[in-house]
Amino acid sequence: MKIIAIESSCDETAAAVVENGIKILSNVIATQTEFHEKYGGIVPEIAARRHSEVINYVIKEALEKAGNAKLQAVAVTHGPGLIGSLIVGLSAAKALAYSLNLPLIGVNHLEGHIYANFLEGKNPPPKFPFIALLVSGGHTMIILVKGHGKYKVLGQTRDDAVGEAYDKAARYIGLGFPGGPVIDQRAQKGDPASIRFPRGMEDKNGGFDFSYSGLKTAVVNYAKKYGLEKLQSEEETLNNVCASFQSAAVEILVEKTIRAAQKTKVKTIVLAGGVAANSYLRKYLNLRAEESGIKTHIPPIALCTDNAAMIGAAAYFRYKNTAKKAFKDNLGLSASASLTL
Ligand code: KG4
Ligand code: ZN
Repeated sequence: MKIIAIESSCDETAAAVVENGIKILSNVIATQTEFHEKYGGIVPEIAARRHSEVINYVIKEALEKAGNAKLQAVAVTHGPGLIGSLIVGLSAAKALAYSLNLPLIGVNHLEGHIYANFLEGKNPPPKFPFIALLVSGGHTMIILVKGHGKYKVLGQTRDDAVGEAYDKAARYIGLGFPGGPVIDQRAQKGDPASIRFPRGMEDKNGGFDFSYSGLKTAVVNYAKKYGLEKLQSEEETLNNVCASFQSAAVEILVEKTIRAAQKTKVKTIVLAGGVAANSYLRKYLNLRAEESGIKTHIPPIALCTDNAAMIGAAAYFRYKNTAKKAFKDNLGLSASASLTL
């Protein structure tokens, strides 16, 4: 079964054709970073306008790269995300579904991130049940996944998402947007033990919840005290700040995820979301999981950040496991900025 999937929840306009939920026939992404960079973050109005400018070309390219494969369904992210951005992708998907007389499958963006792990790669797909650590610019969650579409959220952030903390810390110290990749690179050259930044909700009473606003504020306060200009002129200190921030941000994610797997007696951990591209998170999770006798699944970096192939994968498994009439005449599907799992 070949599905065309469309993703436009944030600042990437993406379309992909995926076969049987696992095989990527095409995966096209038009990124908007350059349009938002100078504002230090995503401007929703610019994002929506840019999506509407490029979406038809992105879809066309995805179809061509897939050899204009015969499609059997249209999938689209309908939340959570920026409402104006979501509506552009949803409208394009509805137009396609209507004109080609195909079922329309609405996908939760968060679910899509998890299903990036089902796309064909070096490893076979994860076996249920598993614990998913979902870390992105908008979400930080530990989820028990018992089967296709069966989610139980065990913990989540009480304030900022981890990706948001990366972006805000980087913005304050003048490292640009998005902050994740830059901090990640600089951290590799710095000393993680040089500054002790707080690890939010570290003690066991914090359960599986997280807090990242304290870490972000600690970086801002450190920079103010040290002198922002002085900090920016010292490569080594800047790298040390990045490394210390990264170890505080990442280690708590991993420790709580391992604890969640142990508590639920689950033997597999799956990593998902944009922050899953982080080199230290990938390394440290593998290390701690191996020590604890737990198997890990980590998507290739290109499938961690927003893309449409992951939406096609999630859509296929949902379609397969749901009564088909739910997807027929589905043009009333609406966008929801705060859609939950
Ligand atoms: O999943 P995603 O592409 O979009 C959302 O759904 O939010 O995630 C974007 C987030 C941004 O906050 C970005 O800074 C972060 O992922 N990110 C990283 C890395 N690459 C992207 N964070 C840490 N290290 C990275 N290498
Ligand atoms: Zn995302």
